[in-house]
Formats: sequence, C-alpha cells, structure tokens
Amino acid sequence: MKAVEISPKVYWVGAKDWNRRVFDALISLPRGTSYNSYLIVGDEKTALIDTVYKDFEGNLGEKVNEVLDLGDIDYIIMNHAEPDHSGAIPYILKQNTKVSVVTTKKGAEIAKAYYDLPDERLIIVREGDEVSLGGKTLRFIEAPWLHWPETMFTYLLEDKILFTCDFFGAHIADGLYDDEVPDIMVHAQRYFGEIMMPFSSMVRKALQKIEGLDVDMIAPSHGPIYRNPQRIIDAHKKWSRGETQEKVLIVYVSMYGTNEEIARKLADRLIAEGIEVEVYDLVSSDIGDIAKDLVDSRAIVLAAPTVLAGAHPLAVYAAYLVKALRPPAKYALLIGSHGWYGKSNDALLEMLKGLNFELIGTLDIHARPSAGDYNEFLRLTDLLIKRLRRGEDD
Ligand code: FEO
Repeated sequence: MKAVEISPKVYWVGAKDWNRRVFDALISLPRGTSYNSYLIVGDEKTALIDTVYKDFEGNLGEKVNEVLDLGDIDYIIMNHAEPDHSGAIPYILKQNTKVSVVTTKKGAEIAKAYYDLPDERLIIVREGDEVSLGGKTLRFIEAPWLHWPETMFTYLLEDKILFTCDFFGAHIADGLYDDEVPDIMVHAQRYFGEIMMPFSSMVRKALQKIEGLDVDMIAPSHGPIYRNPQRIIDAHKKWSRGETQEKVLIVYVSMYGTNEEIARKLADRLIAEGIEVEVYDLVSSDIGDIAKDLVDSRAIVLAAPTVLAGAHPLAVYAAYLVKALRPPAKYALLIGSHGWYGKSNDALLEMLKGLNFELIGTLDIHARPSAGDYNEFLRLTDLLIKRLRRGEDD
C-alpha cells in the first residue's frame, strides 16, 4: 500500500501488519494490525505524527519518500512512546539530523529510556501548545493514561483532524477508513476491552476534553481512520460509563464434562428467557473475544474444576484478566467442581476480591451433579435472572 492523501497535504504513511498474530506477547490479533503514521506538509515545515513498529521502519521511510525526502521532516510528533508507534524514531533520527521529537514531559522521559534520545532532539509540549507548519497548525492535548502515563492527542486545526494514537484504535489491518470495515465496531469494542477499559475514568476525562472540538476525522494509530467520528466517540462514552446490557458472559473450563454441562444448561435457560449470552470454553477461546464481552456484560459466570488444591490454571488466568481489566459487571456467579477436595470457588473468589459486583452465589459439585446440585443450580439461575431484570440502575 502506498502513501494516501487523506486531506490536502496530509498523508497516511503507516504500515499494515497482516501477519502479526500476537501483540505484547498477550493479545491475539486475528485480523493483524496496523501502525498508522501521518505526514503533514505545511508551507514552511513538515511533521510526522507517530512512527511505526521497528520492523516496518524501512516501509515507513519508503512511503514518506513518495511525498518528500525523509531528511526534510522537521518534527516527529510522539503521541505515545510504546515501541509499536515510536520504535522507528531512532531510524528516522539517523537518516535525518535536523528532526526534533515533540512530546510531553513524561513522553520525553520514556523516550530517553527506550530510544536513547538526546535532550537536544526533544521539544517538550504542554496542554494547548501549538506548532505552526505554515497553513497547518498542530495543537497538543494532554490525555494521560490512555494507556501509558505520557499519552497525548494532536489536533490539526485547519483540517479538523484529531490524531489519537492508541485511543479510538482497533487491532485490524483491513481498510483505511471505518466505512470500509463493516464489523469495525466489534474490533473497536474488543480493543477497548483489552487496552482502555482499566482506564475508563481517564477515558471519560479525555472525552470531556475533546467535547466541543470541531472534528471531521479521527485518525488513530491502529485500525481505520474514522470519517464518521461521532459513532466511535459515542461508543467510547457508553463503554467508559460502564453501561451494561442484559447480557451474561459464561466462561468455563471442564475436565470431565461437569462444568461444561452446567455452563450449557445455564446458557440454554438464559437464552429461553430472552437474555443475551456469550459462552467461552477457555481451552479454545480467544481472550480478546472475552475482553470484548466483558465491556458490556451485566453478569459474569465462571465455572472451573479444582486442580491441585486450587482452581484450574486456565480459570486462574481468566480471573486474573477479569480483575486486571476491571469490567463493569454487576453480578457474578461461580460454579466449581471437585473429585475429593473442593477449592476452585474459594481460589477464584480470593482473586476477584475488590471488584465491585454482587456475588449471586457459588455452587460446588462433587464429581457429577446430584439432585441437590441441580436444585441449587435452578435457584441460583432464578436469582441471577431476577437480578438481571432489575435493570441497570437498581
Ligand atoms: Fe499501540 Fe500502546 O501502543
């Protein structure tokens, strides 16, 4: 893909990483990802908004050279220091001895640590500072903790483009614009769940800051550019407020079929009641899909057997992620099973301490479900349905 002019003298010069399957050794990328970088050519100066992952630095250089000589760039605007966006900065500094890196104070600290950037190549900016390129003006908006402490946005006044780096992003290589990716909101929700949900209060602050800004286009550094910015802004408002649906996320791991049977029975009953349900077997599920459904599920059900006097390791991993991602679920139900010594529920409850949900109950099954277990399962299911029907605000 070549450089693309997305607005007069504003070019997408990023990279599409179709083959990458895991990000940060943690997040799966079923549709790859992109590292968007943008070149802005003013009458007097030029600026590059963010760079790309190091493996694509040559690719970035080639795209920039389609528009102007890489050695002629005056500023690299570093909205975020993580290597997927700033990993190519050392390469550009080597090719271009005059270019300066523009970033926040915290961004400069991090960039020095990661990329050995010398002080004389850094320009520190603060909230509301502007840099004029001649007919193109960049204004900086500090938006910390989205998802690192140094993050900022850059607003191009004349073109009404907001460059947000990770924020409003999606890990997907397809499409240059949002209207070219029919399921973009699914990927955006997944990305929000994986990256931004733990920082929901900072998301709300950032959204307040850009409220009233005249934005024609949102240009993040992962996924497509939003030509319809209101749709993604509204979705982030909803997600960051923790608005949930009448929806239950059921996550299970089953060694001999007990937990799977209970998980499936529960799903069938909820579906029969018209309640939205998502069911994941942890053995084969993509954690990113679970993160997506954590964003708006009103209840979480975790079902797992006891292994070596604790919960099954896959359930431990899931509980760790739930705790770390801090979803807005209001209710939880734990199902456990054991052969001779039941500890799964206790171990998971301990891990989930501190999350703000009501525990509907726990059920621990010895070997196979007894008549008493089924009765208790029905009672807990009824209680869960009753709670879900209370609505969002009760
Ligand atoms: Fe896409 Fe936080 O880097």
